[in-house]
Amino acid sequence: MAKIKKIYACTNCGATSSKWEGKCPSCEEWNTFVEEIVSKPTTQEEKKLAWKGGGGNNKSPKPIALPDIVANNRPRLVTPDGELNRVLGGGIVSGSLVLIGGQPGIGKSTLLLQVALKIPGKILYVSGEESDGQIKMRAERIGGQTSNCFILTETNVTKILNHAKEMQPDLMIIDSIQTLVSPYIDSTPGSVSQVRECAGELQRFAKEEYIPVFIIGHITKEGSIAGPKLLEHIVDAVLQFEGDRNYTYRILRTIKNRFGSTDEMGIYEMQANGLREVSNPSEILLSQKDEELSGSAVCATMEGMRPMLIETQALVSTAVYGNPQRSSTGFDLRRLSMLLAVLEKRCGFQYGQQDVFLNIAGGIKVDDPAIDLAIVSALISSLEDVAIPNDVCFAGEVGLSGEIRSVNRIDQRIQEADRLGFKQIFISKYNTKGLNMERYGIEIITIGKIEELYRVLFE
Ligand code: TYD
Ligand code: MG
Repeated sequence: MAKIKKIYACTNCGATSSKWEGKCPSCEEWNTFVEEIVSKPTTQEEKKLAWKGGGGNNKSPKPIALPDIVANNRPRLVTPDGELNRVLGGGIVSGSLVLIGGQPGIGKSTLLLQVALKIPGKILYVSGEESDGQIKMRAERIGGQTSNCFILTETNVTKILNHAKEMQPDLMIIDSIQTLVSPYIDSTPGSVSQVRECAGELQRFAKEEYIPVFIIGHITKEGSIAGPKLLEHIVDAVLQFEGDRNYTYRILRTIKNRFGSTDEMGIYEMQANGLREVSNPSEILLSQKDEELSGSAVCATMEGMRPMLIETQALVSTAVYGNPQRSSTGFDLRRLSMLLAVLEKRCGFQYGQQDVFLNIAGGIKVDDPAIDLAIVSALISSLEDVAIPNDVCFAGEVGLSGEIRSVNRIDQRIQEADRLGFKQIFISKYNTKGLNMERYGIEIITIGKIEELYRVLFE
């Protein structure tokens, strides 16, 4: 007889402990430990069985010499969605397990239903969150109707896999892992042990049947994939679907990919009838305006492997109340404070009594350090109320002593700016190694220090 045993598991990272802990010793989050029921073999026979590797498993794999193994030569399943193919490294690998994480309402279900409706093969879409009628309504809204897409509203993972084995779909989609339950585990859906067990079963299924499986996972408010943090080890690829709900642009990023690069990303626009692929992002991320206004500067960033021109806007105005405000959308607030301090120390600009607001166009979040130079230029432009010409862009990192540092893939950034018709690009003078300046139609201006920026740009 198996005895009931309780453990405590961290909902953030999956660490377990025999007693409750206020702070997780592994990920250092507070109040994440919850009680879970697990059963453990206790009798002599059960212990013996466990030592032998469990019962009833007579087709256990044996060691095989590498040359004797047949490689998985099955072709990738290429979806009609170019952005998704790119993010996955060129299509869906057979038997792969892909996790798509994202905040509620960002469009995960829409994205995968859209893929399900467009792929020519047989698709099994398992939903534990919506009824089949609701999914039908969504499908009608998206517009694609194929008879090859089957909907299953079931949460018991064993039953799901029985259906899937019988049906042999080309792709299975699980919406979402937090709703699945395994009958062998006694805890509630979405708990650490349920999520781990269900994902393990899905993985075995994918590898045995060579059927790719997409799993949708919700993320916590802190932005990490909830509970499923532990899933990241199990699955082959982790994609994150992100964006600001108030804006229409969505970014699909690769966080882990066993079969491709993690530098890729795809951009979509949420429209009334589903998600549209955006294959030329620069043109929409530059705000459309005719006259030149102070406080805006364009940065040549890299999002993954793709160069992209993004507009940054700064507004500097005299603080009305005692404490000046600093606010930033799409850019790290601490980095903004650092850039303001550098401007104050190295160039003598006074931001101490000013409110500073910073915004990156399109609701996009930028981590690329090359955006520093554009932000600094926008800040100076707004403070001095002098506009930067529309056809100028920037790519450079700003260091603490005011030096402009080189950034990666400068060649691609310049080419993209050139292609979009920019006339000048400001880069670091340390970035010119191996760069043939004559190759481009765009004028390349190199600077070494932040003090020079003001002189070259505004004087
Ligand atoms: P959904 O896919 O349900 O999000 P998730 O599965 O990540 O929780 O997306 C829901 C949002 O998308 C909802 O706010 C409505 C919006 N939406 C559109 O704007 N256009 C559409 O065609 C669809 C289907 C949804
Ligand atoms: Mg959903």
